[in-house]
Amino acid sequence: MIAALIPAAGKGERLGKGPKAFLPLDHESILRHVVRAFEGQVGEIIIAVSEEMLPEVSRHISESTRVIQGGSTRQETVYKLLQATQADIVLIHDAARPFLPAEVIRGSIQAVRDYGAATVVRLVADTLIHHQTLEVTDRSVLRAVQTPQSFRRDMILQAHELAKAKSIEATDDAALVRLLGYPVTLVDGSSWLNKITTRSDYEMAQGLVSLWRQKLNEG
Ligand code: CTP
Ligand code: MG
Repeated sequence: MIAALIPAAGKGERLGKGPKAFLPLDHESILRHVVRAFEGQVGEIIIAVSEEMLPEVSRHISESTRVIQGGSTRQETVYKLLQATQADIVLIHDAARPFLPAEVIRGSIQAVRDYGAATVVRLVADTLIHHQTLEVTDRSVLRAVQTPQSFRRDMILQAHELAKAKSIEATDDAALVRLLGYPVTLVDGSSWLNKITTRSDYEMAQGLVSLWRQKLNEG
């Protein structure tokens, strides 16, 4: 069985409008967009939200979706999500990335079946410099990490348990699997999958949502 695990328990502090998953894009919430992307593609969808949002969340999801309470860091939230499922394969996807193409989900599932662990990444378009020395880093070897990140559940659970035991905090799950020494394969993402982090990211997403719907309808 395959599960989509959606950490949505953050506070959205940088954007400053409350938990991002519940903000509207058009007439639907960001969370609704994410859930729709997974419907029909996976056997189980589990969302983690903060305690305050538990009463609110049922308005944004269908009945087949399960909801749990998240933790105080993203890593803690993901650990709770991992404990809430028995699936063999898990796709972990940030609630703050509403535009998730079906082919990225399919590509991630195939990659985890073939290799056990995968993360979506995109090419870096801008020249990257150090903010003080202005030294340029060769961007051709770099990738920006997005989600979904997909794993055999036993592997990612072991990685989280090791991280907990050693008090290691990482901003993404593939980094924890790398700590165990397992390889992580890369799946092509795109700027559609960029995370809504700041006010301008949200403004752009609001502008893009009609184009996104058009793409979905064209299939
Ligand atoms: N997240 C979570 N539990 C936390 C912290 C974050 O489930 N304790 C989730 C967020 O809800 C989001 C994803 O992890 O879907 C990526 O995190 P981020 O973009 O940092 O969201 P927030 O933590 O909500 O935003 P901020 O850091 O600006 O407060
Ligand atoms: Mg955060």
